[in-house]
Amino acid sequence: MNLYKHVSDAINQKLGTSVNLEIPRNRDFGDFSTNAAMVMARSAGKNPRELAAEIMPEIAALDFVADASIAGPGFINIKIKNDFLWNAAADATQIAKTDPMVIDMDYGSYNVAKSLHIGHLRTSIVGDTLNRIAKFLGHKTVSYNHIGDWGRPMGLVIAYIESLHPEWPFFASNFDASKINPADYRITAAELDTYYPAASARGKSDEVFLNHAREITADLQNGHPGYTALYNLFLKVSLDMMDDIIRKLNMMPFDKTLGEKNASQYLHVVEKMLRDKNLLHPSDGAEIVTVRRDTDAEPMPPFMFYNSRGADTYEATDLAAIWYRKTNDNPDKIWYLTDARQQLHFKQVFRVAEMLDLIPTENLEHLYFGTINGPGGVPFKTRDGNAAGLMDIIRIVGDAVRTRCTESGKNLDDETIDQIALAALKFTDLMHDVKSDYIFDPAAVTSFEGRTGPYILYTAVRLNSVLRRAGADAPAHPTTPAALMPDERGLIISILDFERTVRAAFDARSPDILAGYAYDLCQIINAFYHNCPVLRDDVDAATRANRLYIVRNAQQTLETVISLMGLSIPREM
Ligand code: ARG
Repeated sequence: MNLYKHVSDAINQKLGTSVNLEIPRNRDFGDFSTNAAMVMARSAGKNPRELAAEIMPEIAALDFVADASIAGPGFINIKIKNDFLWNAAADATQIAKTDPMVIDMDYGSYNVAKSLHIGHLRTSIVGDTLNRIAKFLGHKTVSYNHIGDWGRPMGLVIAYIESLHPEWPFFASNFDASKINPADYRITAAELDTYYPAASARGKSDEVFLNHAREITADLQNGHPGYTALYNLFLKVSLDMMDDIIRKLNMMPFDKTLGEKNASQYLHVVEKMLRDKNLLHPSDGAEIVTVRRDTDAEPMPPFMFYNSRGADTYEATDLAAIWYRKTNDNPDKIWYLTDARQQLHFKQVFRVAEMLDLIPTENLEHLYFGTINGPGGVPFKTRDGNAAGLMDIIRIVGDAVRTRCTESGKNLDDETIDQIALAALKFTDLMHDVKSDYIFDPAAVTSFEGRTGPYILYTAVRLNSVLRRAGADAPAHPTTPAALMPDERGLIISILDFERTVRAAFDARSPDILAGYAYDLCQIINAFYHNCPVLRDDVDAATRANRLYIVRNAQQTLETVISLMGLSIPREM
């Protein structure tokens, strides 16, 4: 139920206008307020207050309006009927049908043989929540973990493994996959984690090594059997690490884990399309597409399809991936979630996709975000001074929750601690505007008060506990009470804003709208709880039943919001 839209549509339809409804700061004046009379007076050359007096009866006659009054220079304040609010409360999370879109969502998109770090938090958490929101609204989504698995890092890692184990058979020109037992060549996750940083450092100081790595990359891309077999060994290790993180973060599983390597199979298709349109040009041994436009104020380098060593580029594989998605999903939209540094990359890719009539640029959206730093605004590090991996961060937040619980004498089991820690981590990420940078402070985000995940969960636990204790005392749908207290009314109106909030978060691709709503809703719930006792002995049976009805609907709304954020509610906190 989208109360705002319901009221606003009815008024606009009645008056033949299209003005925005306002929500007065002070609800004593009404639940909503419209400046329709002022807008209409301007075009009709009339006095706004007089016009307000003329149209007020029309608004007052709407079936859900209890009372309308004129305020200030011509505002009309509107109070909604209790009966209407009361009955609508039961449908707070029931939403109107949406015209469904197919949305391909490219997030997570981790890299093979590279560890996951703080930079992967936003793409994972924001991506997963946007996916949940889109599905909730009825869209069909296809989530892609577009793994980075095909470029120079692969060559570097293989060259590095070769330097560690020159006796392994993968490097020989007569390599025969049928003659080896892959189990003899174990690479652990911990080992693999160290390979890329070491290889990358070596590549910076050792030209011979770097050139060898480049050759390996090109050979791997051309199907070298030994490199491919070795690659498959560490691919498996990496995929297992990704799965671990996905589970720990309570993300929905990806529909497709297909990355650059998969896309590279279709390079010849897009290459042909480019050639047919005469868009591909040789340049210093590379093959490029000019994407600059005269209107560009910023530098716009050419799109590189093959680099001067003939290797597939990141850009080219992204173009081929668009072709693949178009062919398989025919999406209305493709969303990409990466950090802000990839803006130019996506601009180039989107332009070429449009040149090939694959998909119009406005349907390709790069949702980029800023950086997360640790306290003091410096890169987030573990206690021993190393760059923190994603698993480290999850563990650090868990430890912070545990410390807090010990300090406050709470004795919670491990599962509950994990649930709270996840809420702390995710809520703080969702609450920040996607494009902004933010500071991640484990001590602050685990507080049980203020804008934190634990506060949200705590409020939900409280509601659940009231309902549990009430047991059979909670009738399904009591008749509308004669009067509603301001906190009761405020809470009902707030849950009736749920649908509008979810739609706004989707439309703006801004989960912070949902997170902000969650916090406001919790504040209102706690004020209600404070001012409107439910189970206290001095509360009469009818009042109790009514308040339990409100609590149940508030609980359902809050629970839905929490699940959209990919969180779950512990039994106790
Ligand atoms: N693997 C890339 C990285 O970690 C992100 C990939 C984003 N998606 C894409 N289709 N390019 O930076």
